Amino acid sequence: MSERAQFATKMGVIAASVGSAVGLGNIWRFPYEAGMHGGGAFISIYILCVILLGIPVIIAEFIIGRSTHKNANSAIKTLAPGSKFRFLSYIGIIASTMILSFYSVVAGWIAEYLFLSITGSLNGHTPQEYSEIFSSLVGNPWRSLIWTYLFLGANFLILRKGIQKGIERISNLLMPLLFILLIVFSINSLLLPKATEGLKFMFMPDFSQVSPGMVVGAMGQAFFSLSLGLTCLLTYASYFSNKTPLVRSATIIALLDTCVAVLAGVIIFPAVFSFGAEPTAGPKLVFEVLPNIFQQMPGGYFWSLAFFVLLFFASVTSTISMSEIFITFFTEEHNMSRKKATWLNTIIAIVFGSLCALSFNVLGDIKLFDKNIFDLFDYVSSNILLPAGGFLLAIFVGWIMDKKVVKEQLTNNGTLNVKLMKPIIFCIKYIAPAAIALIFLYVIGLFKHIEALFI
Ligand code: PHE
Repeated sequence: MSERAQFATKMGVIAASVGSAVGLGNIWRFPYEAGMHGGGAFISIYILCVILLGIPVIIAEFIIGRSTHKNANSAIKTLAPGSKFRFLSYIGIIASTMILSFYSVVAGWIAEYLFLSITGSLNGHTPQEYSEIFSSLVGNPWRSLIWTYLFLGANFLILRKGIQKGIERISNLLMPLLFILLIVFSINSLLLPKATEGLKFMFMPDFSQVSPGMVVGAMGQAFFSLSLGLTCLLTYASYFSNKTPLVRSATIIALLDTCVAVLAGVIIFPAVFSFGAEPTAGPKLVFEVLPNIFQQMPGGYFWSLAFFVLLFFASVTSTISMSEIFITFFTEEHNMSRKKATWLNTIIAIVFGSLCALSFNVLGDIKLFDKNIFDLFDYVSSNILLPAGGFLLAIFVGWIMDKKVVKEQLTNNGTLNVKLMKPIIFCIKYIAPAAIALIFLYVIGLFKHIEALFI
C-alpha cells in the first residue's frame, strides 16, 4: 500500500467526520422517525443511544482505524490475524451500498427542490399544494429516476475527479452556514402560532408509548445519523495523525450531529402543527412542511434556495463517505483500479437506487413485511446491519484487541490524560454490546415469551 495521507489539522479530522455524519439523516430522517414514533419518548431514547452506544462505538472505530492506519479488512487482519471479525468489512460494504441506494433517491428529491427553488416555483403555494407538489414528484417514475441519476452522477464525478477533498473543504466552509440557517429557521418556527404544541410533542416524553419498534428505531437512527457501524469512521480514522484526541473528537462529532438533528426537529414540529400536517407522515414529512416555512418568511425565495444548496452539499459529503468504504475495499484489498471501483459502486447504486425510486410509484405494490423496497432497504441497513456492525466493533475492541493498544490509542501513547477512561472502556466492553443485544431480543419479542413464563 502506498504512503497514506494524513489529515493536516485537528479541524480536518473533525470536519471530514462531521461532513459524513451531518446530512439527510439529521434533517430528513430524524424528524420523520421522531414524528412516527410519538416525539419526546423517541428523542429521549435516541439521545440515550447516542451517549451509551454512539460515542463508545465511534471511539471503537477510531481505535481500530488509527492504531493500524489501514482499511477495515486489513486493520482487523493486522490486529487479530485469522479472526472472523473481518466480516465487519462485508457488513460495511453491504450496508453502505444499501444506504447509498435509497439515500440518493432522497438526495435526488433535494436536488429537484433546489431546482424548483431556483426557478421560483416553490414560492406562493398553500400547504395542500405543497403536499401535491411532492406527491407528483415521487409519483412520477421518470422524474424520480432522473433526479436520482443526476445525484449519483454528481457523486461519481466528485469521486472520479479526485476532488472529494476539495468538496469536503468547500462543505466545511458551508456547514457553519447551514448551522446558522437552521438557527434562523428555528427562531422563525418558534414564532409560529402552534409552536408550543410542537415543542411539547418533542420535549414532553410520553413513555407509555415506548414500543420495540420505537426503541430499535431510535437505535437505528443513532447509528445512521452518526455514520456508525459500517466502518466509515474507521476508514476516516485510518488517516488520523497520532496526535488526534480520539475521545474528544468522538464527543464533538456526536454533539454537533445531535444538535443539528434537534434543531431540525425544532424547525419541523412547530410547523407541522401550525400548517396542519401529520407528524406521522413518514419520509415525505420534511418535503411537505419545509416549503410552508420558507413561504411565510420575508425573502422566502432566498431562504429556500440557500437551504437546499447547503443541504445538497451536506448530502454529498455523506454519500462520498459511503462510496469511499466500497472504493477503499476494492482498491486496497482486491487491487481494483480506483476508476473501476468507482464505476462499480455507481452502477450498483443506479440499479438499487432505481428500485428504491420506483417503490413510490410503479413498484409500490411490492411489499415485504409490509414495507416497500425503499423502506426495506432503509430498515435493514439502519436498524439491523449498522447496530450489528456496532456490536461486533465494540466486542472486538473490548474483548479481542490488546488492552495495551487500546489504552495507548485512548491516551495518544500516554500523552493525554483521559479522565473518563474507565467508564469509556466499560461502555465499549459491556454496555454497548449488551444494550444492542437486548434491543434486538426485545424486538424479536423474546421478553414477551419470558414474561409469559412467569405470569
Ligand atoms: N450520517 C449520514 C447522515 O446523517 C448518513 C450516513 C450513513 C453516511 C452511513 C455514511 C454512512 O446523513
